[in-house]
Amino acid sequence: MNELDSLVASAQTLFAQSATPAELENAKAQFLGKSGRITELMKGLAALSVEDKKTRGAVINQAKQAIEAALNQRRQDLADAELQAQLKAEALDVTLPGRARANGGLHPVSLTLERIEAIFGSMGFEVADGPEIETDWFNFTALNTPEDHPARSMHDTFYVEGGHLLRTHTSPMQIRHAVQHVKRYRQQIDAGQGMPEIRVIAPGRTYRVDSDATHSPMFHQCEGLWIGENVSFKDLKVVFTDFCRTFFESDDLVLRFRPSFFPFTEPSAEIDIQFASGPLAGRWLEVAGSGQVHPNVVRNMGLDPERFIGFAFGMGPDRLTMLRYGVNDLRLFFDGDIRFLRQFQ
Ligand code: FA5
Ligand code: MG
Repeated sequence: MNELDSLVASAQTLFAQSATPAELENAKAQFLGKSGRITELMKGLAALSVEDKKTRGAVINQAKQAIEAALNQRRQDLADAELQAQLKAEALDVTLPGRARANGGLHPVSLTLERIEAIFGSMGFEVADGPEIETDWFNFTALNTPEDHPARSMHDTFYVEGGHLLRTHTSPMQIRHAVQHVKRYRQQIDAGQGMPEIRVIAPGRTYRVDSDATHSPMFHQCEGLWIGENVSFKDLKVVFTDFCRTFFESDDLVLRFRPSFFPFTEPSAEIDIQFASGPLAGRWLEVAGSGQVHPNVVRNMGLDPERFIGFAFGMGPDRLTMLRYGVNDLRLFFDGDIRFLRQFQ
């Protein structure tokens, strides 16, 4: 083996022994680097005759090309090996069991609200929605509760900036919805042709400075309003009793209409339901206020109270949820304790 063949052979051996790209580049420097063996041989050409330069130069060049080829081959091999190692390290084991994602569920009060909307929907009620920040007019005055009316102290009101307040009940929706409805049929009404009956429920959040086992500062109400030319207190009893029996899936549910007072209804009644079972069995719980809409309120709706008459109620969906599931403290609904909420899924 001549000198150049053994040089190529030693380069190939050294390249093959290089286990990393860094080692390989170091090995390369020994042959092709600035003071590498091939470079040195090239420098030696300077001392030769033109004739010798040609033959010697060609031979050195061949050796150089052979070394470069070996270098490139080894570079490729190392890169391939690295890619394989990476693929292996990052491989997915598709046979491993998946990480379970728990199913979310509706909040128990949301379940109740859905149920209320479905039942009243089946009785021909539409569903209306309105603001939680209200004006004094809609929350009190339009509901026959003027500034100095003692009934205002029945509600512990949260006042906010600009003279507004957080609605203390959903009753402002009686006025808001009726005014819209009446506006739509104004001409017809004025022409003495009457109007389609107002039949609406308005569920939503309400606020009072109040907190104990059956009162929460933020709670829900659902207003109901039915106004026509021949709607009476009797219809209120039928509709509300029907609703409760469907809601609780119990035909012999006991309801109590207890005479009461609201400025916006006359006569008025609170509606109580008895707990059938659970720790509160036998106890009555007030679930709604109700009554025949007061003539002054009918007037504020833009209607003639001599002609239009009806009833309204405002119930507490949180209380209905307590009764349905036998929960004895309403504040549990709003603590956000997942162990409590999980039970309703
Ligand atoms: C009213 O708010 C009247 N607007 C109801 C009404 C509407 C009467 C239409 C006549 C005509 P009351 O303050 O009683 O009434 O509240 C109605 C219901 O809301 C109660 O029966 C109760 O179920 C619920 N409720 C009242 N306050 C709270 C509270 N702090 N936490 C949870 N539920 C409450
Ligand atoms: Mg009440």
